[in-house]
Amino acid sequence: MRSTPRPGAVGSTVRRGLVAAAVLALGATAAVATATSASAAVACKVNYSASEWQGGMSANLTIQNLGDALNNWTLTFTFPNSSQKVSQGWSGNWSQSGSNVTVTAMDWNKSLANGGSTSIGFNGSWSGSNPAPTDFKINGVACNGTTPVSPSPPISPSPQVSPSSQVSPSPGTSPSASPSPAVSPSSSPPPPGEHVDNPYVGATGYVNPDWSASAKSEPGGSRVANISTAVWLDRIAAITSGSAGNNSKGLRDHLDEAVKQDAANGDTPLTIQVVIYDLPNRDCSALASNGELKIAQNGLARYKSEYIDVIAGIMADSKYSNLRIVTIIEPDSLPNLITNVNAFQACQEAQSSGAYVQGVQYALNKLHAIKNVYTYVDAAHHAWLGWDNNFQPMVNLFHQVATGTTAGVNSIDGFIVNTANFGATVEPYFTINSTPGGQSVRQSKWVDWNWYVDEQSFAVGLRNALVAKGFPNTIGMLIDTSRNGWGGSARPTKASTATNPDTFVNESRIDRRIHAGNWCNQSGAGMGERPKANPTAGLDAYVWIKPPGESDGSSSAIDNDEGKGFDRMCDPTYTGNSLNGNNMSGALGGAPVSGHWFSAQFQQLMQNAYPPLS
Ligand code: BGC
Repeated sequence: MRSTPRPGAVGSTVRRGLVAAAVLALGATAAVATATSASAAVACKVNYSASEWQGGMSANLTIQNLGDALNNWTLTFTFPNSSQKVSQGWSGNWSQSGSNVTVTAMDWNKSLANGGSTSIGFNGSWSGSNPAPTDFKINGVACNGTTPVSPSPPISPSPQVSPSSQVSPSPGTSPSASPSPAVSPSSSPPPPGEHVDNPYVGATGYVNPDWSASAKSEPGGSRVANISTAVWLDRIAAITSGSAGNNSKGLRDHLDEAVKQDAANGDTPLTIQVVIYDLPNRDCSALASNGELKIAQNGLARYKSEYIDVIAGIMADSKYSNLRIVTIIEPDSLPNLITNVNAFQACQEAQSSGAYVQGVQYALNKLHAIKNVYTYVDAAHHAWLGWDNNFQPMVNLFHQVATGTTAGVNSIDGFIVNTANFGATVEPYFTINSTPGGQSVRQSKWVDWNWYVDEQSFAVGLRNALVAKGFPNTIGMLIDTSRNGWGGSARPTKASTATNPDTFVNESRIDRRIHAGNWCNQSGAGMGERPKANPTAGLDAYVWIKPPGESDGSSSAIDNDEGKGFDRMCDPTYTGNSLNGNNMSGALGGAPVSGHWFSAQFQQLMQNAYPPLS
């Protein structure tokens, strides 16, 4: 990891297009049908909802099966206007002939039980007008019939896609409205091992002795060596003998040690964080954290039996039942299905085979079934998913993944943003509603029409949209704050007074990266907020998931037996590509392979910590 944020195959032209655009939420709800075919089996409803801007659109469709169980489905519809074209579809095989669109199911969503639904979508183009199609058919049977059930409401728009918030961000109308409060923890301490709403509340964090030893080996490192960081299971062998780099403990060793730390801690429960990170075709849009399993080499089956089953078997051991075991599920994987399928063959394969979706669902099924295990699914970061054409498709995919698990939306306790990334938790000197010289900061090159300027507003906005989509109000968000402090001498101390949006943002932002798409070993970064429960409404915790000092990727090609490649985004001499606005990579030089100890980076992270280290 960590892949470049890619605002979708549609790219920056579309994002720019949004500015001039009157964005309409078409929100058409196709009517409900009863099948009249001989078998009388098919009855369906299709909700169609699109955001549009001049020349472009991003549409989401939910197919609901109101009839007998379907083993397979084909959706057809006709665009009313001959200029309307699908350019990129997801969660189905999309084709178009003239105005007729056909979508066949993927392996992983072809079965639809009675009452079941699946979400698919596309990005497309149009000219003249962009009316919503209405003649949806499933397996040739119209979904526009007569069954007198009340039509379901259009897909509820996230705060980001409401027409009013898109056209112009009026000051004071934050697109990230405050979330409805999560269920508050009960006042008397829950019995040990009970599945609580927020596993961080009232708990201490596990200190990984391996990371702690690395930290202590650095001058000044003992100041942070007792901070809780996550254990990464970054390959099958890590379950028994430790992850990449100099980590020597396997999962049982860590859990045994956690039981000891817990016992030494009186009645206070202990939370240990474990990163589940070995999907086949891992890190499909980048090279630095490619892994050992490949889809074409039976990787999904191996992931299930040699990785997830083994991990779940260990975590379910009753010796560990009083620990709160937080799992961070597969950084970058599902976000890559939203933005990187077109440009990267490995992501395409991850999507068309269903391996990412099925792998994550399998992990959720096994891990959620263990009472004291908590599941947090990775949701990338604001500079990856904060644009309309990525945001709602991501929400829809999360929902679809969850509803395909045994426990449905309840299989997910929450989501994490900024894993191993560098986005500021809060930009203190400007918000998305700032208007230097009367112009929106969204126009600046740095913000680039994103709807968010920092991770906390993104986490809260995402949570709102997920709850609106059907996740329970108990879901909580995490932010990885291990390397997003941005202290040191380059940190601004006040808002700029410039009236030019670019100058204003560049002088005000604490995130000092050259471009928000830069992700590898960022020069100038510092350790961020220390782990903390309940930092604000909707957030379960600030956490340190990426252990500071562990590299994101090597600065030049280095032979290794972990499947890791060389990604030029980790090379300080690289001048970039369209995905980071053709900017320098901003990476520190001299970096080892991802996961291995990088002393110079650790030193800089301490030096630029914010809040500063005492
Ligand atoms: C690497 C893993 C490592 C993790 C934590 C990832 O980028 O690919 O091998 O365990 O970072 O440092």
